Amino acid sequence: MATWEKHPASTIWNQHTHLIMALSSYLSSLEKDLSLDVAVLQQIATAFEKAMVDGLAGKTSSLKMLPSFIGIPTGKEKGAVIAVDFGGSNVRVIDAQLDGASKVEIKQMKRFPLVDPKGAYNYVNQDARAEELFGFIAQEIGSFARPGVSYSLGHTFSFPCEQTGINQARLIHWTKEFKTQGVEGKDIALLLDTALAAKNVTNVKGTAVINDTVGTQLAAAYTHQNVDIASICGTGHNTCYLQPAHPLTGKPMIVNMESGNFDGAPQSRFDVALDQASDSPGSQRLEKMISGYYLGEVFRRILGDMSTLGLLPKADKLTQKHVLTGYNLDRILADMGELPETAAVLGECLGWTTLTLEQRKAVQTVMTLVARRSARLVASTFCGTIHFVDAGLTRSHAIAIDGSLYEKMPQYAVWLQAALDELLPQAAGRVTTLLAKDGSGIGAAIAAATAAASST
Ligand code: GLC
Repeated sequence: MATWEKHPASTIWNQHTHLIMALSSYLSSLEKDLSLDVAVLQQIATAFEKAMVDGLAGKTSSLKMLPSFIGIPTGKEKGAVIAVDFGGSNVRVIDAQLDGASKVEIKQMKRFPLVDPKGAYNYVNQDARAEELFGFIAQEIGSFARPGVSYSLGHTFSFPCEQTGINQARLIHWTKEFKTQGVEGKDIALLLDTALAAKNVTNVKGTAVINDTVGTQLAAAYTHQNVDIASICGTGHNTCYLQPAHPLTGKPMIVNMESGNFDGAPQSRFDVALDQASDSPGSQRLEKMISGYYLGEVFRRILGDMSTLGLLPKADKLTQKHVLTGYNLDRILADMGELPETAAVLGECLGWTTLTLEQRKAVQTVMTLVARRSARLVASTFCGTIHFVDAGLTRSHAIAIDGSLYEKMPQYAVWLQAALDELLPQAAGRVTTLLAKDGSGIGAAIAAATAAASST
């Protein structure tokens, strides 16, 4: 009789102990890769600031530093506006009235998907063309605008655009895995204007195209003071800031950094593999470590590695992209005690039903490391930006943020503020973040009215 048959209980116990030790050593090594200490964050902040300086001076830089041709609003903006918020697979349109006293009254709002859930159409894949995409948006605007009302239209288009004016914005390249043909290199304002004309929508006149970060900053400026940085921490990631005297105009102007493309943060082997397997290897490297679109993918790759090593069971679904959605990541992060939610998520998404408590704990630790790294990386880029605009930390800085990570991910906002305080101890209490919910829509409304006023 084999020894293990004589002592089955002790063998199981040994295997169990062995698994616990193996999990613990895997997690320690992962922690070394993913938990960025304050010295590393400081280096990232310094590299980020240098990339800002270079990008603004037109030198080679991973930060595009795109001019927006808009500064901080006065609050006196007035009129009927339509705001189009296009930054993901759902487009939102808002019909609003600005009263000239920092108030935006929303009359109506609607949302529509660019990818039909039932599969009838898809305007964002490689088979779709620009005319179809913008034709669809124009048609939705036409059926939404109230007849008899003359509107200025502000368009939040949340992709990297080269602007030569507030209403001239050429898409440099798609991000967030969008693929519609015939849009890259084209003027977005012109594409939408042409589509509106083709659909015979005559009471809506495009006046401004802005990035969602810029929209967030404009909207936050209506309600808060000292907002000189705005950021999106959601499906995508990007930050803008107010340049007090922009080299192009000598006047205050918001600059869209396209910081998701920053390449100065240390990648782990999981980030390298994710980048290589993406549609755009080498680009948006920071975004691929930070944003909601990719966090579940980093997490999935680590779980895949653990499964290969026998620390977790096998699962065919581990090869399936985006199998772990943001909502499920949040459930894991918020879980407590015996981790029932973690068990439920892993059962639903990966078919794992027999995990031990240690394995569930390990999975939660992995997710925490991935999410906390995201928040700390964001903080280091904010720190670089603050140092750029106010090296002596002579004043308070409010950072307006929109996006699901900041708004909903358990602990994210706390980790972000903690990292800012670690990085800038001398400014404790003077560098704060605030939620600017739906800022990109309101911001488009403000931009439309600002641009309409300056063109009359
Ligand atoms: C992507 C886009 C950027 C946008 C961000 C957040 O990074 O390139 O323009 O601001 O997503 O939506």
